[in-house]
Amino acid sequence: MTVFTEETRERAREIIARYPADRSRSALLPLLHLVQSEEGYVSPAGVEFCAEVLGLNKAQVGAVATFYTMYKRKPTGDYLVSVCTNTMCNVLGGQEVYDTLAEHLGVGHDETTADGRITLEHAECLAACDYGPVMTVNYDFFDNVDPQGALGVVEELRAGGRPMPTRGARLCTLKEMAVQLAGFADERDGAVGDGGPGEPTLRGLRLAEQHGISVPGFDPNTPIRSKAEADKAAAEAKARAEAAKPAPTAGNAGAGEPARPAAATGSTAPDVKAPDDKSPQVRTAETRQPDAGTAVADAPGTKVPTDTTAPAPRDAQAAESAGAAANPPAGDGKPAGDEAGAQQRNLKEAEAGAGANGAGPAVASETGVQK
Ligand code: FES
Repeated sequence: MTVFTEETRERAREIIARYPADRSRSALLPLLHLVQSEEGYVSPAGVEFCAEVLGLNKAQVGAVATFYTMYKRKPTGDYLVSVCTNTMCNVLGGQEVYDTLAEHLGVGHDETTADGRITLEHAECLAACDYGPVMTVNYDFFDNVDPQGALGVVEELRAGGRPMPTRGARLCTLKEMAVQLAGFADERDGAVGDGGPGEPTLRGLRLAEQHGISVPGFDPNTPIRSKAEADKAAAEAKARAEAAKPAPTAGNAGAGEPARPAAATGSTAPDVKAPDDKSPQVRTAETRQPDAGTAVADAPGTKVPTDTTAPAPRDAQAAESAGAAANPPAGDGKPAGDEAGAQQRNLKEAEAGAGANGAGPAVASETGVQK
């Protein structure tokens, strides 16, 4: 029996409706957050749910869910405390913060306290190096933390409090955060932070201004163009480039006549190379028989010389059909490991076939094994 209610399904439909009909699989990332908001992690049932509503198989969903660290693969505490121990934060004391919390809570990386309140994890750069060392709780920032400050935050959380992060709204649980990450509004007061960047972020800019350093041609007020505006600008640029092209000279303006060097025509216009509009077959024929005196024109109605030794062009559609027939679709969406027996047999058959052709051992194809 599914753990997902009709309300979850309704939200899933709402998420999917945000994407073009033929691009619904793009909804997978928010859908994974949605199932995480129900169970606190992406369970096998969550994977199955996403696969079902998007018409994917479980292996496809699992490949995405296991790629991103924000999708948890086992039950996670109400508060995910992530301490950055990457280079910048580390030299500023991030490791001491992490070690202090680990010792105090009695848990290691990716482990949860017995009361189910706190999950601790090492984090790679949290993109706030200018405020290092930093830690986040359910992805809200605590800047410039030290061991005592970090202990104060987790103790308040364990006591049922909801401390204020350095930026953003008062903390919420991981499940509540997952609802926001799935793309639904957070109704709490002040949930959406505003205001400009902090001074540490602007420090480089201030120094540049102070020392008169600037990027040539950089306009900080350059507006971000919409797609329509960008397309219009590209079309105008193309039209300008077309207009700037040199006009054809009188000597080579005739239909089908190749361009001649400027010296031969007496023209002072730039030398324009004749367009190479030969078909691949003509080029191949000329390469193979450079002295055959073949005509080079390939205009409609021109007789194309035939090289009887050249292989006939492949029928791409037939080749594709043959390839598809020889490679049946993979399984029923089970993880690759479920099909180990079948893969083993395929590999043996491939090796036997290659041996029979004297081609040596076959190279195993990609099996789609998850990391
Ligand atoms: S190194 Fe810690 S936020 Fe970048």
